[in-house]
Amino acid sequence: MCGIVGIIGRQEVAPLLVDGLKRLEYRGYDSAGIATLVNGSIDRRRAEGKIVNLADRIAQKPIAGTVGIGHTRWATHGRPNEANAHPHASAKVAVVHNGIIENFQELKAELQEHGHGFESDTDTEVVVHLVHYHLDQGMEPVEAVQKALKRLHGAFALGILIAGHHDLLIGARMGSPLAVGFGDGEMYLGSDALALAPLTQRLAYLEEGDMAVLTLDGATFYDVGDNKVERQVRQTALSGALIGKGEHRHFMAKEIFEQPQVIGDTLNAMYNPARGSITLPDLPFDMADVPKVTIVACGTSYYAGLVGKYWIERTARVPVEIDVASEFRYRRPVLQDGGVALFISQSGETADTLAALRHCKAEGQRIVSVVNSPESSMARESDVVLQTNAGPEIGVASTKAFTTQLTVLACFAIALGRAKDTLTPAREKALAAALAEVPGRAAEVLAHDEAIRDIAQFVAEARDVLYLGRGTSYAIALEGALKLKEISYIHAEGYAAGEMKHGPIALIDESVPVIVIAPHDEDDLFEKTASNVQETVARGGQVIFFSDAKGVLRMQDTALHAIAMPEVDPFVAPILYAIPVQLLAYHTAVLKGTDVDQPRNLAKSVTVE
Ligand code: F6R
Repeated sequence: MCGIVGIIGRQEVAPLLVDGLKRLEYRGYDSAGIATLVNGSIDRRRAEGKIVNLADRIAQKPIAGTVGIGHTRWATHGRPNEANAHPHASAKVAVVHNGIIENFQELKAELQEHGHGFESDTDTEVVVHLVHYHLDQGMEPVEAVQKALKRLHGAFALGILIAGHHDLLIGARMGSPLAVGFGDGEMYLGSDALALAPLTQRLAYLEEGDMAVLTLDGATFYDVGDNKVERQVRQTALSGALIGKGEHRHFMAKEIFEQPQVIGDTLNAMYNPARGSITLPDLPFDMADVPKVTIVACGTSYYAGLVGKYWIERTARVPVEIDVASEFRYRRPVLQDGGVALFISQSGETADTLAALRHCKAEGQRIVSVVNSPESSMARESDVVLQTNAGPEIGVASTKAFTTQLTVLACFAIALGRAKDTLTPAREKALAAALAEVPGRAAEVLAHDEAIRDIAQFVAEARDVLYLGRGTSYAIALEGALKLKEISYIHAEGYAAGEMKHGPIALIDESVPVIVIAPHDEDDLFEKTASNVQETVARGGQVIFFSDAKGVLRMQDTALHAIAMPEVDPFVAPILYAIPVQLLAYHTAVLKGTDVDQPRNLAKSVTVE
């Protein structure tokens, strides 16, 4: 979603701002712009579409200035055109904004009454005029911004430039993340560490309600009550060098192929090879006393949670409730005293998941988060962070974040099972050993890349695609369908294979590929799924079958294509079976010629409701 970068420097900032924006592209956006101060006056360049359009505009009409702000916009209020692109500006104030100002209509009406004219359809423009209005009242910039912030309802991160003040850049945060970067005689603002990675590794994150006043010499922080406060400066592990596609054509491909490595990195933090056991970080509660687990997440992270539910209930016999965050937060969920509320999020910033976390915290739940970004809001607000070590995920479609989330959830289920005495030591050892094998087996799965690329030629012709699975493979079917639709724009649905006969079977004909995820398992679900495959084929359905060698042998004459996956303990199968559905979506999208890493309308970090 939208991205912010701001710089007070000693050299021309336009090229650095554009570079920072490029590093924010992965978040998803549909217009971009920068503003600087030139001889005290605000100058701007903005463009609809990709950053290259903005760069062209700047090349045609260069923009000077040693202080500036930049933005990538993902449209919320108003179409994604140049007039609605940020920065928004008056003669005195320029603003970039992530999030939504909920009361903008009311503020706009009030400011119009004071004679302020508006040029865009955005909610952001009210911030410009509100600050301008207070400056007109004779206030100094800091006070004018403080006054304006008090009037804003909603979620925002802001970067503000004031005409005539070359040594000043103001940032503010309420609900959307914002970091201050400390350079060598330069200062920066960024909506994430990645934007600032080539400039500095020294960052301070604003807390909720904070305002930061940046000058060339440093930053002063104010809390929500306008009190001066200190904010810890941390060293981020991200470096500017990390972001490249390697030998791959897309970030998504690179990230799919990184999975053996990052699953291993994630597991290493929790797996003790000498003892063959799983150890979680120290918890501020006793797992043996946990009566219930409530899992909340969105999108792909939600599907990871769904696998987690199957694992936790089977392994630890603890009831698990799971919901998508946007529903959970408004349905007045019944929470159990002493319960664990578990939040799963790659970004750690998804607005609905974060709001659900805060709700559960206020209700006294123990807050555990599975996040990829250790500096995120969710990480900072949780009692316990179970980190996925996936590294930065740039492709909008989540891949390595998903399989590392599964890795962490598997460890959580095992640790809970041990605490609840529902796992024998021998079974714990066996499960831990099965997990330890996953990186190696994942590398074997990736060797099917070419075969899956061939299958994608058939899928790319389809208008609709069905994904079927049972048990944890049902969650992988849902995830496979999501991956395909979001990057190839082919309509796809995931179903519990047993639900086929209750409706979806009506869709089946020769033109509908049916992707079936069917590892052998402890409950003989394989046989039941195999029957569903026969029912599909009897109606002309074209089945693409992912199973182990035994399963493939059974189905090779029935299915159009069958891929033999490695033999593993059924417990870890969902981690491995996620990979072929990622590859299938990837190759289908490449064949369709879509923008694989930045699919239309999507954002990487969804910081609005
Ligand atoms: C799909 C995808 C999204 C995210 C969802 C939650 O490929 O990436 O569905 O999983 O937006 O994002 P996080 O995990 O950052 O909370």
